[in-house]
Amino acid sequence: MLNKINPIKTKSWNSLAEHFKDIQHIHMKTLFAKDPDRFKKFSIRFNDILVDYSKNIITDETLRHLIALARETGLEDAIEKMFSGNAINETENRAVLHTALRNRENTPIYADGKNVMPQVNAVLKKMEAFSRNVISGEWKGFSGRKITDIVNIGIGGSDLGPVMVTECLRPYAKKGLSVHFVSNIDGTHIVETLKTLNPETTLFMIASKTFTTQETMTNAFSAREWFLQCAKDHAHVARHFVAISTNTEKVEAFGIHRDNMFVFWDWVGGRYSLWSAIGLSIACFIGYENFSELLHGAFEMDNHFRTAPFEKNIPVILALIGIWYNNFFGAQTEAILPYDQYMHRFPAYFQQGNMESNGKSTDRSGDKVNYQTGPVIWGEPGTNGQHAFYQLIHQGTKLIPADFLAPAISHNPLGEHHNILLSNFFAQTEALLKGKTRDEVLEELKKECKSDNEIQRLAPHKVFEGNRPTNSILFKKLTPTVLGSLIALYEHKIFVQGVIWNIFSFDQWGVELGKQLAKKILPELTDNKPIATHDSSTNGLINAYKEMR
Ligand code: F6P
Repeated sequence: MLNKINPIKTKSWNSLAEHFKDIQHIHMKTLFAKDPDRFKKFSIRFNDILVDYSKNIITDETLRHLIALARETGLEDAIEKMFSGNAINETENRAVLHTALRNRENTPIYADGKNVMPQVNAVLKKMEAFSRNVISGEWKGFSGRKITDIVNIGIGGSDLGPVMVTECLRPYAKKGLSVHFVSNIDGTHIVETLKTLNPETTLFMIASKTFTTQETMTNAFSAREWFLQCAKDHAHVARHFVAISTNTEKVEAFGIHRDNMFVFWDWVGGRYSLWSAIGLSIACFIGYENFSELLHGAFEMDNHFRTAPFEKNIPVILALIGIWYNNFFGAQTEAILPYDQYMHRFPAYFQQGNMESNGKSTDRSGDKVNYQTGPVIWGEPGTNGQHAFYQLIHQGTKLIPADFLAPAISHNPLGEHHNILLSNFFAQTEALLKGKTRDEVLEELKKECKSDNEIQRLAPHKVFEGNRPTNSILFKKLTPTVLGSLIALYEHKIFVQGVIWNIFSFDQWGVELGKQLAKKILPELTDNKPIATHDSSTNGLINAYKEMR
């Protein structure tokens, strides 16, 4: 069990509140001017990853208080409890062991008194054999042809992880095999996906931890129907449908044979499951050896997180800086801005990872929290974001701490493209730090030979306050290992924040109510009779829908 300490009642929270009064109006430019070693001091190198957190409104003292907060709220103990299989997901009475899935040292890890590693290894072996067979063409469709297309049907954690990773690691894709992802219950998603596919060469992976999720099951049934229209014989389903789930009974009831089922366990949270059999589409797309490198990268970050002192611990530092802005500066959101087109789904992945984990307002004692918890996470790849929403980050009224991520080496070195991309990556964080003073603006306008009137009129609009915080995460190349480490970094950041905010990060009760109400509404939509069972807005909308359709 995790302890139940209200963070705002700690000594260090008080110290932080006092310290905030001193520092809130300090400009980072002053902090940089005072300390030529600031970058050296506030950056950490981890394998091929460099994390620069010097462009934050922090000093040594800030970090001292934040680290004290981590200690006072029992972070060391919580880390050990998570890694060693303690049932820290208390509202579901489960251990939280996604780290066991990438435990490449194979040291025993116990959940409910049982070493989980033999079962983890057995599933990995099955994934390895299966992915090799699919890639090599040994696994044949019902008409004897090689599989050319994989369709992963899943949603949330059973979709976003594989989508994000297969996009990030597209340069490692095996020839002759495409992956597609169907998640939305909107029929358009599956219809459009299947339009170009041939049932004889298509393999469906039905990915669902529970195997009861309405969207996934509805799409799975539609996929089976589409397949059978061509294959005719139910016996052929075995060559074209595999299941990834914790629910053997439901999988068999769907008609998928046990041999074609890849299991995982209730101690793997949906949004932390890409390392499990849920990663089967990844292993087939990039090959098992690359999937294994991805696990290795995460394993290395796990070790760093578990053993590095907090002062040099990347997930801990980034989590604490996040808390500093969220709880003291009142920042409501955090942007994730990858300067790498392959990472275009990385922010979306951590939207679920972070917001489903830490979007909670009840603390671990069951009381309503009286402080802010998880931020809104959003982002798009640079430089597209620059031409869309950066205006608000630079000159808006909201403080938006942002993470900038970029590779030093591109998978597609094309002329000057990468230098231009990276010049923007460096320039943006510099601009957000420095801003542009009124004097600088005046000087610039004078050089442009503007009239005095014009200068006075334009100047206020061209001033940038700067002092907008950013972290820069520069990595050598987006390899499977680096990506594994980056994902694990953000996972652990979320965990640290949840521990400090005294909330349960591994349940997601907040998504249930909508599901329950949709189930009640569905039968009301079958005929055209007006209904009056809800509030007037919901009744009005449903009745208008019945009229319009
Ligand atoms: O509705 C939220 C959720 O439970 C997520 O946590 C999960 O990733 C997703 O639904 C899919 O669930 P399943 O894998 O059981 O289909």
